[in-house]
Amino acid sequence: AATVPASGGEGEVVGNQEIESLIESLPKLPFLVEGHIYKYDGFWYIEDHLRAVLSCKKHFRFEDSDILLATFPKCGTTWLMAILYAIINRHRYPIGSEDHPLLTNNPHSLVRNFELNLYNKNAIPDLSNMPAPRLFATHAPALSLCDEVKNNSGCKVVYVCRNPKDSVVSFWHFLGKLKPEAASRLSFDEFFDSFCSGVITFGLFWDHVVDHWKASLSMPEKVMFLSYEQIIEQPDHYVKKMAEFMGCPFSSVEEDEGVVNGIVKMCSFSHLSQLEVNKSGRTQNGVRHDSFFRRGVVGDSKNLLSSEMINKIDRITEEKFSPHGLTI
Ligand code: A3P
Repeated sequence: AATVPASGGEGEVVGNQEIESLIESLPKLPFLVEGHIYKYDGFWYIEDHLRAVLSCKKHFRFEDSDILLATFPKCGTTWLMAILYAIINRHRYPIGSEDHPLLTNNPHSLVRNFELNLYNKNAIPDLSNMPAPRLFATHAPALSLCDEVKNNSGCKVVYVCRNPKDSVVSFWHFLGKLKPEAASRLSFDEFFDSFCSGVITFGLFWDHVVDHWKASLSMPEKVMFLSYEQIIEQPDHYVKKMAEFMGCPFSSVEEDEGVVNGIVKMCSFSHLSQLEVNKSGRTQNGVRHDSFFRRGVVGDSKNLLSSEMINKIDRITEEKFSPHGLTI
């Protein structure tokens, strides 16, 4: 029998057979694009992601100094990977140096995602030589809000949300690049409805956001809650906040030397998207790097969403967020 509790607590997964049995036992629905989508711990996962999440829960152990970037897809993961990486590694890789790794590597190669890169395809990575602080990323609430994170004394989660109207539109465009054939068989209306009902990988968007928001209120020293829009509006301010939260604040000398603004500029959409590596390369999963850089603005959704769609998303957002005092 499966030993990972469906509640998503810190259950021990004894082996692949247990993972397979658990997956078999979960509610599932046909997925829009292909295959099935499974409900685990209140959220929907496509099979590959779910298998990787369960494997990660079995094999990965958080260390006190770990930093985890948690996002719903298309909420600014790539950007924040770059920013957090630049902040954490600024003494090893000074900002402005010609050989900074972000100039020749896509952020997804420098900050590995648990379920997309590290534990997918039955891989069990050896992370023993990774220097502290280790920086990882995930879209999975089952990892970013697991008991181990809550109980571990030091590790921290930086959560970034985005206006759902821009997220759904960004997701739709990304799907078109990731799986053009499958996307061409789908209408945006169908995709939009799946997003709103939550039957989309890592959905439901609103629950994803609210769970992290609540965690940030109850454990402010462990979970930092930010939005894409906030960071776009005041990037220098939030880069400083993130550094403080992660325990590596900027010194006044660094501030005087323009290190904060150097990070903002290096990680800006206009800079990153024009680097050769981001115009031409692919991730280890074959995803084109340029598909992570589309427009990078706030409010682009108005170009695709009908007024009915806008009303629907606004209504769900109000219903889901206002009881928790959350506005984004
Ligand atoms: P758009 O599709 O609205 O342009 P993720 O990295 O989570 O997949 O999110 C992708 C979204 O973030 C895309 O949004 C992308 O253009 C935007 N993005 C990528 N890099 C960015 C950057 N450096 N600054 C701001 N936005 C960025």
